[in-house]
Amino acid sequence: MKINKKIEDAINKQINAELYSAYLYLGMSARCTEMNLKGMANWLYVQAQEEMTHAMKFYRFVLERSGHAVMPAIEGVKSDWKAPVEMFAAAYEHEQKVTAMINNIMDIAISERDHASASMLNWFVDEQVEEEANSSEIAEKLKLIGESKEGLFMLDKELSTRVFVDSTQPAGGAQA
Ligand code: FEO
Repeated sequence: MKINKKIEDAINKQINAELYSAYLYLGMSARCTEMNLKGMANWLYVQAQEEMTHAMKFYRFVLERSGHAVMPAIEGVKSDWKAPVEMFAAAYEHEQKVTAMINNIMDIAISERDHASASMLNWFVDEQVEEEANSSEIAEKLKLIGESKEGLFMLDKELSTRVFVDSTQPAGGAQA
């Protein structure tokens, strides 16, 4: 069944929002690299890659349902971050906004009785729990660390271990 127009519009907006998220995290990653915080830069770079897969999951869904995927301009992002604590607090705030957007699309899917979209959106509802928890945890750790250079060094080391896994694919493998 062809995708419902209201859902199609909302998902197209979400494709743009996910690409914006990738852009936001890529910009933060660049700032962390400049600050010589390579672990944080790695974590944020992986996060940007994840956001791309979120955009692609929505994109594939629109086309699978014989919809029309559109590509409007992606808004520019802030680039004058002063410190990681500011970045991760903003990341958590951003993820809360994304959750609200996903919930809004789910509301439309339910009101339009579009079960296929609701089923696909369930994946994002679950994913957002993790997205909020991850950014919130790092933001809280950074608040605790405060001015401690040693604490920052330890956290940076911890975040250097994150590796990209495409969780939108069934086996968690590479892009199909
Ligand atoms: Fe695609 Fe960070 O939510």
